[in-house]
Amino acid sequence: MFTCDNLGVNEAGHLTFAGQDTVSLAARYGTPLYLMDEARVRHNCRVYRDAMRRHFGKNALPLYASKANSFTQLYRVMRDEGMGVDVVSCGEIRTAAKAGFDLSRAFFHGNAKTDADVACAMDCGVGCFVADNEDELGAIEAEAAKRGLVQKVLLRVTPGIDPHTYEAVNTGMVDSKFGRAIATGQAEELARLALSLPHVELLGFHCHVGSQVFAEDVFERAVDVMLRFIAEMRRRLGFTASLLDLGGGYGVRYTSDDPVLDIADKLGNVARVFHAVCKELSLPEPAVVLEPGRSIVADAGLTLYTAQSVKRIPGYKNYVAVDGGMTDNPRYALYKSRYTVLPADSMNAPRTLRCDLAGCCCESGDILQPDVLLPETVRRGDLIAVCTTGAYNYAMASNYNRVPRPPVVMLRDGESYVAVRRETADDLTALDE
Ligand code: LLP
Repeated sequence: MFTCDNLGVNEAGHLTFAGQDTVSLAARYGTPLYLMDEARVRHNCRVYRDAMRRHFGKNALPLYASKANSFTQLYRVMRDEGMGVDVVSCGEIRTAAKAGFDLSRAFFHGNAKTDADVACAMDCGVGCFVADNEDELGAIEAEAAKRGLVQKVLLRVTPGIDPHTYEAVNTGMVDSKFGRAIATGQAEELARLALSLPHVELLGFHCHVGSQVFAEDVFERAVDVMLRFIAEMRRRLGFTASLLDLGGGYGVRYTSDDPVLDIADKLGNVARVFHAVCKELSLPEPAVVLEPGRSIVADAGLTLYTAQSVKRIPGYKNYVAVDGGMTDNPRYALYKSRYTVLPADSMNAPRTLRCDLAGCCCESGDILQPDVLLPETVRRGDLIAVCTTGAYNYAMASNYNRVPRPPVVMLRDGESYVAVRRETADDLTALDE
């Protein structure tokens, strides 16, 4: 029934998360409410860190892709766990800095970095830029020259691999807005340019094939293409990459239809290809970094809502509407993403009411999840949980309809604490002149 082992049911028939009663948590903090299981985040970090060291050697490093969920306390957890981070904006950089995160372990992504972004990242001592294009390399060179420093850089290239996932997160193809394609020769041109710039130190290459990836051999194919490209650059440009960044993308279980991925096992398979191809090409093995986002935080998150109305339209369908919606979780509206929905306060009741879980926004498309099963008795005031919301929920939340964003409450060792407080009406008007 459960997609992750941090979910359970107690004697009262209440859903538990990280061993804590969700009904008590909702009573204490109100709804809508994001919960984060800190132990699960730490566990997921350790799975990557240990498996990467074991399979790729001691220089391998997982970078948490903080676009998946970004707030100060989460960077503190990443710091404790010895993770690097992938950051994509000055907002993420400043948040990590506020957490005391050592930004020499940060990799700065983005396909449209402004001069201000470049300067901010250098002010904060970001270790490595992942340069997307020629324009950006020019901006990095200019800013680094001005400061009299040499900036470490990776180049984002597209290996031309179809990850068999949904369109909006499919990023490794030749026609992607990200990076420069190996197939068109433009990746090589970008490398030539980087090598010619005196204030840029090229470390190696980056690729990211997509997100929510389950397909068998996507990362194996990516590592193969990337190593052959690295060998080609060695032969043609005399440049030997010391770092290979394979991006993020491993899928997580949103419903029991999704497979269970054994990350350590998967990384073992990728490493086997890595070592074999390096050997075949007589290539010195570059250090490997990965950028997992979703698979670090998704199953550490759960959102609680209170039902506000139950609408039955005989012969058509039923709706249960809650006090949150696309403002705190736009993923069904955007991608038709699947979720597991549970009646948190009555887990033992038979679930026979087929309904759409609707949000509170003034828009028909504000559906959190269609076609879910809830108890026939569901009514206003009942507590509803949406599971596996730790990735790309809070990070993608908006104030559409001027709805305030929920707080993020972290659960640790049987205790709970507020990591991000609930937005207030004053917060919503704070920027208004
Ligand atoms: N590295 C790069 C360069 C990326 O673009 C991404 C995700 C990641 C790492 C992390 O991928 P993950 O391990 O989380 O799959 N908003 C969408 C997902 C967009 C992903 C964008 N890039 C969603 O809610 O499904």
